[in-house]
Amino acid sequence: MAPPNPALTRAETFARAYGLQMPILLAPMAAACPPSLSIAVANAGGLGSCGALLMKPAAIRAWASEVRAGTNGGFQLNLWIPDPPPTRDAAAEDRVRAFLANWGPEVAPEAGDATPPDFSAQCEAMLEVAPSIISSIMGLYPPEFVERMKAKRIKWFANVTTVKEAMAAEAAGADAIVAQGMEAGGHRGAFDAGGAEAAMVGLFALLPAVVDAVKVPVIATGGIADSRGVAAALLLGASAVQVGTGFLRSPEAKLPKAWADALARAAPEDTLVTRAFSGRAGRSLATAYARAAAHPDAPRPAPYPVQRGLTQAMREAAVKSDDLATMQPWAGQSAARALAEPAAEIARELWEGARAMLA
Ligand SMILES: Cc1cc2nc3c(=O)[nH]c(=O)nc-3n(C[C@H](O)[C@H](O)[C@H](O)COP(=O)(O)O)c2cc1C
Repeated sequence: MAPPNPALTRAETFARAYGLQMPILLAPMAAACPPSLSIAVANAGGLGSCGALLMKPAAIRAWASEVRAGTNGGFQLNLWIPDPPPTRDAAAEDRVRAFLANWGPEVAPEAGDATPPDFSAQCEAMLEVAPSIISSIMGLYPPEFVERMKAKRIKWFANVTTVKEAMAAEAAGADAIVAQGMEAGGHRGAFDAGGAEAAMVGLFALLPAVVDAVKVPVIATGGIADSRGVAAALLLGASAVQVGTGFLRSPEAKLPKAWADALARAAPEDTLVTRAFSGRAGRSLATAYARAAAHPDAPRPAPYPVQRGLTQAMREAAVKSDDLATMQPWAGQSAARALAEPAAEIARELWEGARAMLA
């Protein structure tokens, strides 16, 4: 009998170490990670996930209680590492507000004042919940927080977009590196917010380079939405994969219908990286609003989180009327591979298909 494929052995060893039955991780997705989705993925043997960026401590605790009531499986809690507050420019914000009035409700000048929940309080809530894994994106946790995580035996998964970031994360004590290819849906994880568009590396180049540069396990993410992608990532050295967009058409994701339907129609070239929703670079479907905002005559988006505040009314109105044109429909380049099936089926198909290819 031929010896087992080393890629398969590596992935199975990683999954076992984290109490999983398959090396399939749900990607943290702020505002698109209801407990139902994590419960389904964790009950199938994968890892659940919560993008807690916009959640106050009480909401983080409630999310974890609901997931724990629905599954014995594990999950990760995830936060963005905050940047210093941005410099405001009232005249520039007025130009953005005038532009947005063409797409949604009038925007009040104070809309740009909206700030995310307090980061330290969110960190305390995560430690209190004590999931098996806490992950970071857009930077690294401060050393004191890393120490407190480790004291509680919580593992730290650090999202990175370059080899340099991967090496910094390993040196800071990350237990695993999540290599985010430029195909990924949602915000870019670049540590330097301003340089995100200049550091766009595809997963086929990034993954083996990161695997060669660090000793800790590497998890692949970005554009993986079928079993071929899973198998390829494992062959390139990943120990597991993290899938976001690939789960978004499942009923448990509870996505607005227009967004979920549009994913199925999107060719790889039908997404773009834009700052027009939040002020930070992220990959979304190339909607009418996102394309118009990219026109040279359109005003430059305000910095994060000001732009997020300014676009809030438009985004909320879009969800109410299920209008794709002005929604914030994050999507990776493999959106059309996402299946409208229960999340547990999707997880099983991803893993069983990859395992058959690698056997
Ligand atoms: C709707 C959405 C929200 C996201 N929010 C977060 C987040 O809060 N934190 C994070 O680390 N990554 C976030 N991401 C990025 C994912 O974790 C992951 O990198 C990405 O989904 C992988 O690419 P894929 O969508 O092609 O699978 C988000 C992605 C999407 C699609």
